Amino acid sequence: MQTSTSSRSKQLVHLDLGERSYDIHIGTGLLDAADSWDGLPRSATALIVTNTTVGPLYAQRVARQLAPRYGRVLVIELPDGEAYKDAATLNLIYDRLLAEACDRKTVLFALGGGVIGDMTGFAASCYMRGVPFVQIATTLLAQVDSSVGGKTAINHPLGKNMIGAFYQPQRVICDLETLDTLAPREYAAGLAEIIKYGPIFDAEFMTWMEEHQTALNARDKTALAYAVQRSCEIKAAVVGADEREGGLRAILNFGHTFGHAIEAGMGYGAWLHGEAVGVGMLMAAELSARLGWMDQAFVSRLRHLIESMGLPVVGPDLGPARYLELMRVDKKAEAGEIRFVLIDQLGHAKVAAAPDDMVAEVIRAHSA
Ligand code: NAD
Ligand code: GLY
Repeated sequence: MQTSTSSRSKQLVHLDLGERSYDIHIGTGLLDAADSWDGLPRSATALIVTNTTVGPLYAQRVARQLAPRYGRVLVIELPDGEAYKDAATLNLIYDRLLAEACDRKTVLFALGGGVIGDMTGFAASCYMRGVPFVQIATTLLAQVDSSVGGKTAINHPLGKNMIGAFYQPQRVICDLETLDTLAPREYAAGLAEIIKYGPIFDAEFMTWMEEHQTALNARDKTALAYAVQRSCEIKAAVVGADEREGGLRAILNFGHTFGHAIEAGMGYGAWLHGEAVGVGMLMAAELSARLGWMDQAFVSRLRHLIESMGLPVVGPDLGPARYLELMRVDKKAEAGEIRFVLIDQLGHAKVAAAPDDMVAEVIRAHSA
């Protein structure tokens, strides 16, 4: 992993995965800048996959840049929402590719947040056994997490993200200006995924976030550029070391075990993923404290940071038994034993189990 700065002050973060390596472009004005698109695979067809919200805002600008580089530029607008991250909607992408006789060199451009990115990446991994794709991440969550690292998936009625593939993009483009149109709740949810990188990997980054709360809440581009860059550097380091989550990569799921239980228990969409992860991180921090690895000062510090970003800090009252039941179907669970990402020192995480009664106490302490 390395970071460099071009003359346009655009940041490039490199994800080193041998022949699957790529750059993450982070900056302002990137959608309209030629060098965002230079060097990508050329082909007869580019297909921009977006949704009915993001497409009207940005698809034509992207299409203008792609037009001189591809024989034809097609756009497909999918319905917007997590509820459409499913096999039926995925099939709309294949329908279009086949109806337009797109060949195996066709390049897919995912223009949107994590839902569009995950679905387009999965479509790219399967169409004709694999075509190249590019992530143009337009939510904060996508810019700091979902667009990087090659996890692609759709949901199944019996489980979230259960049908998918590891499939890396050719490039990730994070134009910070696209965040200006993001709804406040979606923006705050993205901040939660940035917060996670401090406790698990970089204690100084947690301090930096505390010092830049106001600027981040105001969507200040200088603060955002650093927050997105540092998040991507950390994610690139972790994924570069453990692409397929044999071990280390699991730390990126700090707060996610409790968080997934909140999302599933409340019905997908009621709590945004980042909101649930925020409370989940607090519960995981509390569990780390009860295991004697961290102190209560760390839990308070994390609570203050999460709260200052406008995120909830109290989980829904599903009852400990329901939380535990939901957490047993987590992808990290092994033979029914729930495994949590816990903090054993600030800037370092490990995956471990904990007694059910202790977990129940933690849930009671952090839910209404
Ligand atoms: P999302 O893709 O649903 O986007 C949130 C909302 O913002 C949508 O309504 C979208 O249309 C809208 N939107 C997107 N960009 C916009 C913009 N610039 N201006 C205005 N509106 C805009 O949600 P998300 O939070 O980006 O992603 C969540 C998804 O990401 C989940 O499905 C989750 O499973 C997945 N995810 C994947 C990974 C991974 O590693 N692949 C990691 C974390 C999350
Ligand atoms: N968002 C977790 C991961 O990419 O592994």
